[in-house]
This record gives sequence, C-alpha cells and structure tokens, in this order.
Amino acid sequence: MKRTSLFVIGLLAFTAIVSAQDISLPAPVKTGGKPLMDALNERKSIKAYSGKQLDQQNLSNLLWAAYGFNRESKRVVPSSENKQEIDVYVAFPTGVYFYDAKANVLKLHQTEVPKASIGQPAVTNVAAFTLIYVANVDKASNREACYLDTGYLVQNVYLYCASAGFGSVARGSFKAQQLHTDLKLGANQVVTLVQAVGVPQ
Ligand SMILES: Cc1cc2nc3c(=O)[nH]c(=O)nc-3n(C[C@H](O)[C@H](O)[C@H](O)COP(=O)(O)O)c2cc1C
Repeated sequence: MKRTSLFVIGLLAFTAIVSAQDISLPAPVKTGGKPLMDALNERKSIKAYSGKQLDQQNLSNLLWAAYGFNRESKRVVPSSENKQEIDVYVAFPTGVYFYDAKANVLKLHQTEVPKASIGQPAVTNVAAFTLIYVANVDKASNREACYLDTGYLVQNVYLYCASAGFGSVARGSFKAQQLHTDLKLGANQVVTLVQAVGVPQ
C-alpha cells in the first residue's frame, strides 16, 4: 500500500480515538518488554515510518517510559536537584497535547499543528507523532540542566521503541523560536528538543 494511503488510514483511525478534547489514557503496563540488554542492542534512530498511529496502550506505555511517575512524586527519569522542569507535549496530526503524567491524560493544548516549526517533513509527516520537550527554566537548577535532563527522556523513548517494535529519532533540526511562538509558550519556557515516534516502514 502506498505511503500516503497508510498515512490517511492512520490519521482516520486516530481521529476516531481522539474525538474528545482531552485523551484519558489506559493505565501504562509497567512489566514485560524486551530484556534491557536486547533493547540497548536494538536502539537506533529510525526515519522511515509507515504513517500508522500507535494504539492507546502503547502510547500510554511510551509516555510513561518517557516521563511517568514510578514513585509517589518521582519519575522514571532523574532530574538535576529533582526539579522535574521538563514538560512533554505531543504533536499529533490532529493537534498538540500536554502530557499530564499524574492524571495519565493528554490535555489538548491547541488544534493547530506547527508543522513548519517542527520541521524535517520527510520524517515528521509519516511519523505517528512528535514529542516536544519544553523546559521551565525558572524551575530548573540551571539552563544546562534543562538540556541534560531532556536527554534522559529521549533515551527512554528510544529504548521503549526498541523494546516494543516502534521507531524514533531525536531531532535538533526544529525552528526553536518559531515553535516557541507557535505553541504560545511563556518567557520562562524553552523547547529543548523534539523527537519523532512512529511505526517503522
Ligand atoms: C541531540 C540530537 C539531535 C539530533 N537531531 C537530528 C535531526 O535533526 N535530524 C535527524 O535526522 N537526526 C537527528 N539526530 C539523530 C542522530 O543523527 C543519530 O542519533 C545519529 O546519527 C546516530 O544514529 P543512531 O541514533 O541510529 O545510533 C539527533 C540526535 C541527537 C542526540
């Protein structure tokens, strides 16, 4: 099947899933998956995707792997001085959502998708979604920590994808200032990195 047809099918399927404004995710499955050493061995950047969407269970698992809580008030990733200054936004073809990890809900941030500022269309137009990492610099230990702490989330996503058969690529080639404006972020916020995720072709 052609790539465009798969993309349209994926988009239609996902549109049905995300008809509500906010998306309540199923509880993440925190057991199973490939052994860590296998996932490490298979971690790689993938840029060719089928255009299909992830089902909600895998979406929930992936977001938990990226930035969920694995203790009362602490997360699966470390952060400098436990400032937890990173926020995760998810840009689907149908809108941009904020990941509320405590509630396990994707909250609609905006329906406009800033495709131009997300960039690299050859990848992002066929990926299922793009994760947008946003740091609150007022909350952070310092500016450098924002970028370091982002890296832990990025690697967890890579490893979840390697474990579950999905693909991902970290991307520095986005238009940071334009994306900041398009997402209507505040002066205390900075987009540190974006990361495409999808079903490999
Ligand atoms: C901070 C960072 C930024 C990156 N930016 C891009 C990018 O803009 N576009 C892209 O195609 N790949 C990007 N990559 C992916 C790298 O090119 C990739 O990780 C590298 O070639 C090694 O390949 P591997 O991840 O498969 O081991 C980025 C990776 C990192 C860590």
